[in-house]
Amino acid sequence: MLLAHISDTHFRSQGQKLYGFIDINAGNADVVSQLNALTERPDAVVISGDIVNCGHPAEYQVARQILGYLRYPLYIIPGNHDDKTYFLEYLHPLCPQLGNDPENMRYAIDDYPMRLLFIDSSRTGTSKGWLTEETLAWLETQLSTSGDKPTAVFMHHPPIALGSAQMDPIACENGYRLLELVERFPSLVRIFCGHNHCLIMTQYRQAIIATLPGTVHQVPYFHEDKRPYYNMSPPACLMHRLVDNHLVSYLHSLAHYAGPWLYDETISYPVDEQ
Ligand SMILES: [Fe+2]
Repeated sequence: MLLAHISDTHFRSQGQKLYGFIDINAGNADVVSQLNALTERPDAVVISGDIVNCGHPAEYQVARQILGYLRYPLYIIPGNHDDKTYFLEYLHPLCPQLGNDPENMRYAIDDYPMRLLFIDSSRTGTSKGWLTEETLAWLETQLSTSGDKPTAVFMHHPPIALGSAQMDPIACENGYRLLELVERFPSLVRIFCGHNHCLIMTQYRQAIIATLPGTVHQVPYFHEDKRPYYNMSPPACLMHRLVDNHLVSYLHSLAHYAGPWLYDETISYPVDEQ
């Protein structure tokens, strides 16, 4: 199993830039091209929420068009910038697993030696995340019926404090309910989130919890400064690869850069001759 996991695309409507100056649609189109050109082909692409910026139908139209160029199965979930109804209406053709109820978008992917559970942690009208009783009950059922098969949960809001002054106040408000499931089910070994536009990792019991960079714009991590910064530091995604039976996740740059070159030990090792 190899997944290319991107996050927080924040599409805008045609001709509109993000915050008036970031050409986010062009940036995302470039990311789609980069993923399509990968020589080591992922089995699927995951996007962990905030597909569009303002929840507008015109933004979803652009998202559907550009994401529709991806040559892989697509697994998506909403974030706080998404509108559940429009999200489902426009993006269901790209991800039929979403089902038909915008208030209950969640699904399991059982095609790999690792189970993938996708849940919606967004709550209409707030930037904070929330897990509904239905979502929690569904997770419990999934986890209690999957035996010891390793399982990863994908959601938008991190369920645990990460020490980010800007983002912790809008994390998943009742994330502790998911952490209780981590305690009960040893098979739950990963929780991957978007939201923070930054690679951050922590661990709760056996579960590694991580947030991802964005595809175009990032949020710098400050522990004390609460102001809502963003920046244009280089975008990246995570590649999740099952090696034997354990999951290895590595950062894959989405910036444009020189290389790669093949290492030549005749000019590099051990030291240059004087
Ligand atoms: Fe976001």
